Amino acid sequence: MDPLPLSRAFTLIEPGPVVLVTTREGERDNVMTISWTMVLDFAGRFALTTGPWNHSFAALVARRECVVAIPSAEMIDTVIGIGTCSGASVDKFETFGLRRAPASRVAAPLLPDCLANIECRLIDRVEAYDMLILESLAAWHDPARAASGRMLHAVGDGTFIVDGERLDRRVAMRSKLPEGL
Ligand SMILES: Cc1cc2nc3c(=O)[nH]c(=O)nc-3n(C[C@H](O)[C@H](O)[C@H](O)COP(=O)(O)O)c2cc1C
Repeated sequence: MDPLPLSRAFTLIEPGPVVLVTTREGERDNVMTISWTMVLDFAGRFALTTGPWNHSFAALVARRECVVAIPSAEMIDTVIGIGTCSGASVDKFETFGLRRAPASRVAAPLLPDCLANIECRLIDRVEAYDMLILESLAAWHDPARAASGRMLHAVGDGTFIVDGERLDRRVAMRSKLPEGL
């Protein structure tokens, strides 16, 4: 094996999938792209890495809530567009023609064109690592697209991987999975 620069090590541990995070500040909605996520448990708690350099951050921390939406691979150019401009100067819903739907537990909107949406509450913040810890309050998906929809995974160097073949090892994993999953 050849040495790999440490600066590229993170690209080996591919997180998944790229998500869109909606927030509401006053009466104004915003959305950003996040690829650095981490599942924390089976109960629906997970972490996002983000911070005050993004406009969304202030609304997320002030209201302590957001929606995490899972875009399909076909939405890649919208996902990149949303993640390369700021809601401080752009209405991203108008610019990218994004549809919105009301959420049930939070003020931030659902994105019905995505494969799924999770309404979340901010329950903790690990400032040393710019990590926000979220708890899921409600989740929505489009059953018609759930099986066929392909998610997008960011490698971190401007390239992306799309879901491929699904391997079923549910029987072998049984002892490690919660009942009913
Ligand atoms: C593919 C992609 C992945 C991104 N992942 C993250 C991330 O994990 N954390 C983060 O803070 N910003 C991430 N960004 C950058 C934000 O989405 C970007 O700074 C955006 O402009 C923030 O919007 P806002 O200023 O309206 O909040 C990503 C952008 C792209 C295109």
